[in-house]
Amino acid sequence: MNPFQIDRSGSEKGGNHRLSFFSFLLLAFLLSVFSFCKESKPLSPEAEAGRGLYMANCIACHNANPKLDGAVGPSVGNSSYELLEARMRGEYPPGYVPKRQSTAMTRFNFAEAQIRSLEEFLKQ
Ligand code: HEC
Repeated sequence: MNPFQIDRSGSEKGGNHRLSFFSFLLLAFLLSVFSFCKESKPLSPEAEAGRGLYMANCIACHNANPKLDGAVGPSVGNSSYELLEARMRGEYPPGYVPKRQSTAMTRFNFAEAQIRSLEEFLKQ
């Protein structure tokens, strides 16, 4: 074995690892850009109205992304009309098991059409 010869086999291996690490980062970046674009797809007019109501009245406690838990309120993605309507009165539909046992949520006096638009938005 020649002592002046630099053994590159190890470093080449490291180089390959670094390369795949960066391609992984690139892939993760592209995926996040893609999912961001998907999330900003246009909503139906009804869901858009629901989004307005949600942003104005609910995100003080619930997460701006309804699928995630908020500071005070739990996730509310895919809530049914029945659940939303009962919640506006501070109640739950019969037999519904609440995500939280607290009774901290404000009551709201929304019309049926407004609750329907909230339901439409929360389905997104
Ligand atoms: C003052 C804070 C607050 C506001 C504002 C608020 N919520 Fe809530 N919400 C809560 C809390 C806390 C809970 C958990 C039960 C409880 O404490 O009443 C909850 C529970 C819920 C649930 C039931 C979740 C489950 O499956 O158990 C729904 C649906 C919901 N909220 C929808 C809404 C909508 C829609 C709005 C806006 C119109 C809203 N909330 C505004 C705090 C709030």
